[in-house]
Amino acid sequence: MFDINTYRKETTLKDGTKVLLRPMVAEDQDALYEFFKGVPREDSRYLRDDVTSRLLVEKWAKNLDYTKTLPILAVKNGAIVADATINRRRSGWKWHLGTVRMFVHKDFRKVGLGRLMIEEVCQIAFKLELEKLIVEIPEINRAAINAFNKNGFSRVAVIPNLVKDRENRPLDVVVMTKDIKPARDEEYDYDF
Ligand SMILES: CC(C)(COP(=O)(O)OP(=O)(O)OC[C@H]1O[C@@H](n2cnc3c(N)ncnc32)[C@H](O)[C@@H]1OP(=O)(O)O)[C@@H](O)C(=O)NCCC(=O)NCCS
Repeated sequence: MFDINTYRKETTLKDGTKVLLRPMVAEDQDALYEFFKGVPREDSRYLRDDVTSRLLVEKWAKNLDYTKTLPILAVKNGAIVADATINRRRSGWKWHLGTVRMFVHKDFRKVGLGRLMIEEVCQIAFKLELEKLIVEIPEINRAAINAFNKNGFSRVAVIPNLVKDRENRPLDVVVMTKDIKPARDEEYDYDF
């Protein structure tokens, strides 16, 4: 049986950088705040949350519950260089679904870390018995759309004007999904 608490993966990026992937723990709070302090302005425009808020990061660290939000960190020499999360709820009609979010530090982009994290998230989702992953990306974010596309996510919808950027301008959102396991209707575990 897969135990996320013991999950660890050491790997080497295209440029030789060694990183450790592991779930976030409460003690990562300060490192996570430092990581998000480095978010470029052009990226923060269209992130869902204000990740530069100390209070928000504190709340995340204090309320860790992997069954709801599972943050996987990439760590290099104690510093966080990427963060991917799988959000899920284990009851209701979306019990089989995981929503993915991902952020790679600007200094560690374009060396395969994003793809590696997406690949890892898919493998973890499989082990957690999720059937489908979904990601919502503003249509102007070509880098993210390409990265998910290269890992088998397909564009299934575009929702016009779904979100607002920091300047309150509407943005179209691309919805991308990836099937992780075949749907298993015959043993449907529908639990409200
Ligand atoms: C999107 C993001 C995760 C990509 O991370 P990354 O580590 O640079 O990605 P990789 O090096 O693994 O590249 C994977 C693929 O993404 C695409 N890609 C990455 N950066 C790109 C860019 N600036 N423009 C176009 N395509 C790009 C390429 O197709 C690349 O494949 P290739 O190397 O075979 O050409 C990173 O840019 C990021 O964190 N952006 C801000 C947050 C965000 O947009 N999150 C996604 C929404 S949840």
